[in-house]
Amino acid sequence: MTGYADPRRIEAMIEGLDRFTATPGRGTTRLTYSAEYRAAADFVAGWMRDAGLTVRQDAVGTIIGRIEGRNPDLAPILVGSHLDSVPNGGRFDGPAGVVAGIETAFLFRDLGLVPDRPVEVVAMIEEEGTRFGGGLFGSRLLTGAIGPEALEDLRDGQGVSAAEAMRAYGLDPARAGEAARAPGSVHAFLELHIEQGPVLEAEGRDIAIVETIVGLAQLRVTVRGQAAHAGTTPMDQRRDALVGAVGILAQLPDLARQVGRGAVLTVGRMEVLPGGANVIPDLVTFTIDLRAPAEADVLRLIEMVEGTVAHAQGNGLSCTIERQLYAPPTPLSDQIQTALLAQAEGLGLSHRVMVSGAGHDAMILAGLAPTGLIFVPSRGGVSHAPEEWTDYAQLARGTDLIFATIRQMSGAVPG
Ligand code: GLV
Ligand code: MN
Ligand code: MN
Repeated sequence: MTGYADPRRIEAMIEGLDRFTATPGRGTTRLTYSAEYRAAADFVAGWMRDAGLTVRQDAVGTIIGRIEGRNPDLAPILVGSHLDSVPNGGRFDGPAGVVAGIETAFLFRDLGLVPDRPVEVVAMIEEEGTRFGGGLFGSRLLTGAIGPEALEDLRDGQGVSAAEAMRAYGLDPARAGEAARAPGSVHAFLELHIEQGPVLEAEGRDIAIVETIVGLAQLRVTVRGQAAHAGTTPMDQRRDALVGAVGILAQLPDLARQVGRGAVLTVGRMEVLPGGANVIPDLVTFTIDLRAPAEADVLRLIEMVEGTVAHAQGNGLSCTIERQLYAPPTPLSDQIQTALLAQAEGLGLSHRVMVSGAGHDAMILAGLAPTGLIFVPSRGGVSHAPEEWTDYAQLARGTDLIFATIRQMSGAVPG
């Protein structure tokens, strides 16, 4: 089989984007609305223009490149992913899907194809939640799942609100609602993503077509005690917030094991204040990310975690827990899975169906329009780490599937 997508052009986009990191030499760290993010968004906009797209930035900073349709009033097909990263992450998580969308536009241009319905390539903000917590923030703004008021509440590690960060980025938070797409205004959403797990590589397959994305919740626990002198406060008279927090944390992995059936739980971030080696901590916050394929299991695990936190209350400690994000398991469109399967067969790509253990913008977009998600292999199954890797030839095969599916769904014919 000879493919359509150009692996060298894909490589140039991915490698070019990877220069925009706050941690050169230590992976990709690209926080939403940072200077690196601005540079990456401008870089993407430049490639979109080269591909012949009409480019705009929406009210929350999503970069949108449009291929006009013969029938401009038809609801567009959206294709893309996110540009932000985890701390010290890899170059493919997010950008792979954006680049697949831009490469699709190049192919339309190179093959002289004009779609009947418009196609929009989207590069979204804040999927990971690295800066403001919660995750899937850009897609939730885009679908109207959250309103602009959330921009005032969410703060980064330095206490800067999302609204303040937007102003510094040149956006007006009061207008953030304008980014929301109305129900019925999007025909479909397609996302290519790296698998971030070992299955495709182990099986030697080109592609996974995702049928369901796991349910997930992100919680934040706050433990308050009393700061005091580390040398003079007897051990039985302390209200040590860190000791309380660690007591909770130590019980959590077992809760996920008890629920079983693929349930997982991670504490990935903890802050200890005031942070003096000779001061008993009075304030500890930590995050809990929990996931499971079945919604009942996600809900049961949340309840067990909340119970554990409530039980830790007392002995001079106060413990509270907030939900920052809840997304139920998301089945993706049967119709789009069927279309992807037919195109994969036509292209001669080896494929399988998969449940995604990672969250994706697709799970939010699925609330707005029929949505499809495909995976390409991840070397060694590693992701959210600098070692993340997918061969450009594999990315090109995935892009061929995105291109062929959009060509068919958009009614594209030579212009
Ligand atoms: C995104 O990478 C997530 O699954 O949290
Ligand atoms: Mn990720
Ligand atoms: Mn991602």
